[in-house]
Amino acid sequence: MKKTISDIQNLEGKKVLLRNDFNVPIVDGKVVSDVRIRAALPTIKHVIENKGKVIIFSHLGRIKTENDKSKTLKPVADVLSQLLNQPVVFVLTTRGEDLEKAIDAMDNGDVLLVENTRFEDLNDNAESKNSEELGKYWASLGDVFINDAFGTSHRSHASNVGIASNIEETAVGFLIKKELEFLGSVLDNPERPMVALLGGAKVSDKIEVIKSLLEKADKVIIGTAMVYTFDLARGKSIGNSLAEFDKVSLAKELMEKYPDKLILAEDSVYSPEYKDIEGAIGNEVPEGMIGMDVGPKTIATVKEALKGAKTVIWNGPFGVTEFEHFKNGSEEIANAIVEIPGATTIVGGGDSAAMVWKLGLQDKFTHISTGGGASMEFLEGKELPGIAIIKNK
Ligand code: 3PG
Repeated sequence: MKKTISDIQNLEGKKVLLRNDFNVPIVDGKVVSDVRIRAALPTIKHVIENKGKVIIFSHLGRIKTENDKSKTLKPVADVLSQLLNQPVVFVLTTRGEDLEKAIDAMDNGDVLLVENTRFEDLNDNAESKNSEELGKYWASLGDVFINDAFGTSHRSHASNVGIASNIEETAVGFLIKKELEFLGSVLDNPERPMVALLGGAKVSDKIEVIKSLLEKADKVIIGTAMVYTFDLARGKSIGNSLAEFDKVSLAKELMEKYPDKLILAEDSVYSPEYKDIEGAIGNEVPEGMIGMDVGPKTIATVKEALKGAKTVIWNGPFGVTEFEHFKNGSEEIANAIVEIPGATTIVGGGDSAAMVWKLGLQDKFTHISTGGGASMEFLEGKELPGIAIIKNK
């Protein structure tokens, strides 16, 4: 069991180095989804209430050239300040006198946000390569390190693993605690029956997740577009739909190994172009057509398979949900999931989480993971370095 922030007794006057994942979408200098910022609030508020000093580190995007210096965290500081209803000191640099002076000037309960940690990647990839020197330097700025950046925990970078390796007291925050409880319950001890739904474009991205969930779940339902690789394996026509030809034999293997568990989408809504236009329905996708959504038969089968489920995990939408004409399957299935009485319902993966928010169902699922790659690696059963490095209780 990892230490949690509530296990740290006296935060008063302590400089708390907090790693958050504020890698949020920003358009024209404005944060367009504050989901990750809101999810980080309980830990930040806990430190404020306990009179600690909150020094936040986060990355934003990937920094390769000087031009990427436009990826400043300033808009995040503004949103955070509004959400906390208190000032947030934003420091325009990632190291040096300005940062150190700003920290020295903090009072108990103050909040400070350090500029994008990946600006350090312009310095021989210091952040992403977990430079020993950088991790030590950042660790020297505080007394305690709290990792609450679940979405970044599959990375071994200076701002998570580096700081944690160079400071005595470490713990995870409430966001990571919650993610571990919900995603961990799926892997360790799910209430049964457990149904997993897997969609999205690529089998190869999720192959380990599919395998891991086939071992754990009672039923695994495969939807658009992932199903087309399986359709090739069972000899169905898929037209120009997305499929991975080099994964067909693997799909066949899984179909043979888990004939009773695996439920494959039976029909599609297809269209001649990858555009938001009226589609046609069929059991197979005719030549020249592209499968864009699951059809009514599949929706009915999925609803039936979900009946009585006690745990549902969903990773990857079942159609092109960005398009009004092809979001119906995912929408009907999402609505069916949230109606299952007494079920624990979990959404993992960036696209699926975005879809649930778009449908306005965010409060109806038991848990929506803030992790994209991190939640996938967790479900594959991999160790997440950003969490592994935190001390145990
Ligand atoms: C994410 O959004 O998945 C995380 O913030 C990690 O970002 P990265 O893939 O750029 O490391």
